Amino acid sequence: MKLISRPRRNRKNQQIRDLIAETSLTPQQLIYPVFLCEGKAQEQALKTLPGQCRYSVDVLSKKISHWKEFGLSHFALFPQIDESKKDPQGKEALNENGLLAQALKQLKDQHPEISFIADVALDPYSSDGHDGVVKNGQILNDESVELLAKMAVKQAAWGADWVAPSDMMDGRIGAIRQALDQEGFTETAILAYTAKYASSFYGPFREALASAPKAGDKKTYQMDPRNAQEALREARLDMAEGADMIMVKPGLAYLDIIYRLKQISEVPVAAYNVSGEYAMIQFAAQAGALDGDQAMMEMLMGFRRAGADTILTYFAPMAAKLLMAAK
Ligand code: PBG
Repeated sequence: MKLISRPRRNRKNQQIRDLIAETSLTPQQLIYPVFLCEGKAQEQALKTLPGQCRYSVDVLSKKISHWKEFGLSHFALFPQIDESKKDPQGKEALNENGLLAQALKQLKDQHPEISFIADVALDPYSSDGHDGVVKNGQILNDESVELLAKMAVKQAAWGADWVAPSDMMDGRIGAIRQALDQEGFTETAILAYTAKYASSFYGPFREALASAPKAGDKKTYQMDPRNAQEALREARLDMAEGADMIMVKPGLAYLDIIYRLKQISEVPVAAYNVSGEYAMIQFAAQAGALDGDQAMMEMLMGFRRAGADTILTYFAPMAAKLLMAAK
């Protein structure tokens, strides 16, 4: 054949492929979401998230020392709250001696150079299992935002470097920014869950925290999976209200949303590689259906190629280890 262009020349060997690779991934770009539980010396394996555990604060602190060696320096904390401490207002979220308060204080003290991200939403603390306050079956927006702003200020005071509103109420980014600034927390950053979809891929996460809604679903606040245009609207609002980073969640079924937000964003874009996406690969690998490490890397690279600057992923330690070994 007389061919002028033979694209295969650029794929001839590993050296040429590495030379021209368009996308890269480093451990420094990863944020590791971790689950917390009460007590000491606790390491509770999670059945629907193979390889992930709920840790008590003392164990988590030791683990962080270990994960640091692989280049990880960002952790998102998710506390499991006992059912007996939940109420309709999610008051436990403001408890100065609660699990998250203790965790942030101790971890920040023991790992001052590490950044800790606290989730702002009522669901782990609410007896209704919703991200906002429920009244007569309705999720109240403005009343919820007031509580969420209080929650964010507390988290900042306990040592959170970032607060991450995952609730999808309208106007919460602006309200939280204002509340933080009023209390002098001008250095606390906001990672906004900007395009968060009503997704079945959160299943294992809700199992890990026993935080599933007791009634109804989250479709009146989380986005409709059929919509993309709406994500641009959410992004513009969150940026105008002061978000320091915007996030797309889940990631795998929403790569087009990552791509679109990256086109218009003035702030970095994060992708949340959620619990169900992690579980799919882990269970498929366990069943011998695919190579888990390779599938993980391919998926993470896909987020980066779509435009994600950073990735929240339960694969963080595994991916970081592999990346360090490949160096
Ligand atoms: C809580 C929250 C959820 C996740 C992160 N923060 C669940 C939900 O909205 O129901 C899901 C993360 C995951 O599945 O990995 N607002």
